[in-house]
Amino acid sequence: VPGYANTIPYTLGGTAFVSFLVLVLTGIVLTQFYHPSTTGANASVHAIAADPVLSLVRNIHFWLAQAMFVAVLLHLFRVFATGAYKRPRELQWVVGVLLFAASIALLFTGAVIKWDEEGYEALQHNEQIANALAGPGGWFASSYFDAVHIVVRLYSLHVSLLPMAMGGLLLLHFFLIRHHKIAPPVGAEAAKAPGTTVPFTVHLRKIFLYGGAVVGIVLVLALFFPAPLGPAPIDGVEATKPPWPFLWLYGVENYFGLGYVFPATMAFFIGLLAVPLIDRSKSHEPKDRRFIIALGFAVSVLLLALTLSAALSPVTSHF
Ligand code: HEM
Repeated sequence: VPGYANTIPYTLGGTAFVSFLVLVLTGIVLTQFYHPSTTGANASVHAIAADPVLSLVRNIHFWLAQAMFVAVLLHLFRVFATGAYKRPRELQWVVGVLLFAASIALLFTGAVIKWDEEGYEALQHNEQIANALAGPGGWFASSYFDAVHIVVRLYSLHVSLLPMAMGGLLLLHFFLIRHHKIAPPVGAEAAKAPGTTVPFTVHLRKIFLYGGAVVGIVLVLALFFPAPLGPAPIDGVEATKPPWPFLWLYGVENYFGLGYVFPATMAFFIGLLAVPLIDRSKSHEPKDRRFIIALGFAVSVLLLALTLSAALSPVTSHF
């Protein structure tokens, strides 16, 4: 592994991976105590939260999910800033976008299945997806199969389909890193003479050191700040805002209406997938890639502005 890839910006993907492993372990513990049903879900999470050991496991699961999402976001920024999506790593970028989508879907389903007011209101967006996709989108509707409530299907997504998809995509992601090696350095590092390489085991130790530090911070957060949980939902009430990764979409709802949430999400992911097509120059240097860097900056500012305006706005009824 090249020396420059042993720094924090180049170990963010590894940090996200370590977080994912611990999330799987804590998630497996939680499945033993969670009851996937409309009548039992919220009560079972309250029972978990009332137990000193289980509540710690739940709090770690919650805070680590936030930490993993931050690590994935920062990893995406690093890859974007260093132009690491360029030939021959376009497929690597596409797999990354799918990993990002799977991470968001895990956050979404995780929020819904605790089945409190926040989760219930998030679920209403599933119905919007069902309407927008029509035929094949019927799977997202509560009315898909009367005998099994949608909370059970979302639970199976959260604990089985999505983690398995994540595992498969990660295998492909790691295979491609091995195949193409790490992209060349940029900036001051590129100007230096090629440095020495370090054995992979040294790199791995670094990843587990940083990943372990994140888990340590999460443990402290978990001890002092319980994961949010409200009472069972009341139908027809809109009293919450979504978790922070989805706040920008709440901003979209505020300004344009509920019907724009799904198209905005699609536009975001199609835009991400198109990055290697938009920036086709050979150079990895940010100074040679002013257009894509400016575009990325503008989109980030827009998403941040929507997030902040949603955070500051009063709770509004969108349904
Ligand atoms: C669960 C999510 C993810 C995990 C665990 C993960 C893991 C990794 C790891 C361990 C590396 C090696 C270098 C590094 O860590 O910086 C890497 C490289 C890479 N990742 Fe990810 N990744 C994830 C998501 C993403 C996303 C969201 C993107 C972009 C949309 C992406 C695109 C790439 C690319 C293009 C490389 C090659 C970078 C280079 O050669 O410099 N990954 N990933």
